[in-house]
Amino acid sequence: MKSAGIIGLGKALPERVLTNAEIETMVETSDEWIFERTGIRKRRVAGENETSASLGTAAAAEALRMAGVDPADVDLIICGTTSPDTLFPSTACHIQQRLGCVNAAAFDLAAACAGFVYALAVGSELVASGAHKMALIIGADVLTKFTDWTDRGTCVLFGDGAGAAVVAPVEDGRGVLSYDLGADGTGTGLLVIPGGGGLHPASHQTVDDRLHYIKMEGREVFKFAVKIMGESSERSLAKCGLSPHDVDCFVPHQANTRIIDSATRRLGIAPERVFTNVADYGNTSAASVPIALYEAFLMGRIREGDLVVVVGFGAGLTWASCVLRWTMSAVPEGDGKELAGAARVDK
Ligand code: ACO
Repeated sequence: MKSAGIIGLGKALPERVLTNAEIETMVETSDEWIFERTGIRKRRVAGENETSASLGTAAAAEALRMAGVDPADVDLIICGTTSPDTLFPSTACHIQQRLGCVNAAAFDLAAACAGFVYALAVGSELVASGAHKMALIIGADVLTKFTDWTDRGTCVLFGDGAGAAVVAPVEDGRGVLSYDLGADGTGTGLLVIPGGGGLHPASHQTVDDRLHYIKMEGREVFKFAVKIMGESSERSLAKCGLSPHDVDCFVPHQANTRIIDSATRRLGIAPERVFTNVADYGNTSAASVPIALYEAFLMGRIREGDLVVVVGFGAGLTWASCVLRWTMSAVPEGDGKELAGAARVDK
């Protein structure tokens, strides 16, 4: 087995910003309640033509530019998404076509908010084994298209976006060092979009019954999240003989600052080593970890040689964590696009 790691990152966000103040006009809630209970101030909402495939394509194109990789050299695309453009074909195939990655196998991976970290584990194994040479790992979701804007328990939480990583062989002992994947199917009813699949195919009745919207038992998901983010991260770290004290940057799924604070307190990771951007984007599901990784890297919070832990949890219930020894060197300061360009030119 070789080592496989991230050599390029990208992100894409819809243009429209939806603030808590605007949500106050839609349901019985307040900016104060939302911020105190979730840490969210605003989120991005996809327009009609902004989809998981369009955002995923933009994020992946930036990741390829940063890595200096030609689309034809990509031989694997895995897209973590649970809000695909179409039930089939996969969002990964839509992205493959748009990017011109003509030599790539392409498939979606459905693990909800844990989708990107699941896909990173799977993709890095396929590259490390030598079965594939260059993988695009994408997390893309537009959950606001499935949000019930009359349900204050869920409509304040979600935002849309995409993030992507190029995974390639790296120096031995670097890149993805270990991972932990898991699921607890007894929790399928806790977080679900009931309609539109084979169980409740779309019909006038499913629309009348509001079955195409996200339904969530928030308190149960909260308890699960706090417990599993810590446990899974510890398991991943133990697999490579490390502990939470060794972590330079912890990049958790951005669902709720209270979940992140409780989990990192339990782990004993100091707040300055934890990256959060949930205030700006809300919970972008499978996109949250790669968007956070991208921003942490460009802000200089992750440097070459750092030990990074990414962890996600989501509907299923699912969870995934990966430990990485960072391989990319720092890029100059500036805004995202400028930096991605600078990284491309340097290479
Ligand atoms: N504004 C004002 N009041 C609200 C709102 C709101 N937006 N939402 C709920 N409330 C009320 C409730 O009705 C309840 O009132 P009651 O006591 O009169 O019944 C009260 O606030 C407390 O409700 P709780 O549900 O106990 O509030 P909690 O502190 O648990 O916060 C929240 C709710 C934010 C949803 C929290 O449970 C949470 O973050 N859960 C995890 C959700 C999550 O991360 N989901 C994504 C998983 S990833 C994926 O796969 C998509």
